[in-house]
Amino acid sequence: MSDTVTITDNRTGKQLECPVIQGTYGQPVIDTKLLHKELGMFTLDPGFSTTSSCRSAITYLDGEKGVLMHRGYPIEQLAENSNYLEVCYLLIHGELPSQVQMDEWENAIKMHTMTHEHLSRFYTGYRYDAHPMSIMAGVVSAVASYYHDATDIRNPEHRLMTAKRVIGKMPNLASKCYRFASGLPFVYPHNSLGFVENFMHMTFSRPSEDYEPLPAAIRALELLFILHADHEQNASTSTVRLAGSAESNPFACIAAGIATLWGKAHGGANEAVIQMLEEIGDASKIQKFIDRAKDKNDPFRLMGFGHRVYKNHDPRATIIRQACHELLKELDVNLPMFEVAMELERIALEDDYFIERKLYPNVDFYSGLIYQALKIPSAMFTVMFALARSAGWMAQWMELMEDEDFRIGRPRQLYIGPAKRDYVDISQRS
Ligand code: CMC
Repeated sequence: MSDTVTITDNRTGKQLECPVIQGTYGQPVIDTKLLHKELGMFTLDPGFSTTSSCRSAITYLDGEKGVLMHRGYPIEQLAENSNYLEVCYLLIHGELPSQVQMDEWENAIKMHTMTHEHLSRFYTGYRYDAHPMSIMAGVVSAVASYYHDATDIRNPEHRLMTAKRVIGKMPNLASKCYRFASGLPFVYPHNSLGFVENFMHMTFSRPSEDYEPLPAAIRALELLFILHADHEQNASTSTVRLAGSAESNPFACIAAGIATLWGKAHGGANEAVIQMLEEIGDASKIQKFIDRAKDKNDPFRLMGFGHRVYKNHDPRATIIRQACHELLKELDVNLPMFEVAMELERIALEDDYFIERKLYPNVDFYSGLIYQALKIPSAMFTVMFALARSAGWMAQWMELMEDEDFRIGRPRQLYIGPAKRDYVDISQRS
């Protein structure tokens, strides 16, 4: 049996034999590159539910089995044993580092934690209550202007340097969003600190007192950053790749990813979960919200539930759920919202509507609760997601730039507008 699929145009009898390609894991894909050339047709796949947009060796996920791996390493093992910067190295370089490589990598990232002093002025141009994701998209794009002429995206060394810059600067850029909104002065990075501690120092320290982040908080953020570092060809990653395919500046590509991540169907869900739980208020109102989520005439959806790919469980959610329980116990925080969340989860998981549609709590259902327990304002949740995801975006961008199939991304459409008609002068129109 040959590894092909034959597509027959029943109108003409013309046939095209398309190669079927099998990756390391996962469903085989049909190579339809010649469809237009040979049969004069395109495919239609709104939402790209069955379209593989690229070949990638970075992340694999199996939605039916609830599997997520980066460069072959299961997320459970990385969450248990690794740290965020090591996962960044893995995503970017493809292998886990030796101790020497890791030391060099950490030092290299530290060399890029500062931002140009003038960049701070961009923040003050925003309204006092601007959403931090709006600021993030703007300032990350602004960073492009500092490196644009000196960056040759066709040069692998420049690409690696850009990845280090992005990973090194994101905590600084993100922390300034928080400081600006809180009316606090910006804080410079301190490179004696680890990656997460440095972020916390820049974000939460006060000039008037010493700051020592809680070890439990450092661990929780480290875990969240690891779990958010990459996630295959989701909407924001695909946006980064599409922008990259036009040979745009990589900082501008990351800004495009940030804009996409902001949406509440994607990374913005962690903020939306907290808003929903606040709206629910207490357990007695849960059923009303479940009923609304099931009502097809109501646009309301249970935030933090469902996933395009995971139809069994989200492995990130399993890890983070456990971490959330442990953190609340360790911090001895009594979060009434947590009780509501656990009851909502229980009721939804027993409800036929959610069971039939395979709607399970996703990573964002629990990440918001952890941030909430750490007293991080909800508008910052998605910014922290963007900070962590920037490593994955860069790895995916670098892979794209090295792809032998590199071409500008240019989907086609099924035109359903009016047929050709002649222009009518305005005086003649009814
Ligand atoms: N609440 C109620 N019903 C839902 C929900 C939900 N959260 N999610 C999906 N459905 C229903 C949907 O109405 C549809 O029902 P029917 O078949 O009767 O028309 C069915 O389930 C399939 O939904 P879909 O919209 O075709 O699924 P999708 O793959 O296009 O959307 C999703 C995936 C994540 C956008 C969606 O589940 C959703 O809106 N969830 C809430 C937002 C959220 O939590 N997003 C975070 C995703 S994980 C983090 C990340 O990757 O960024």
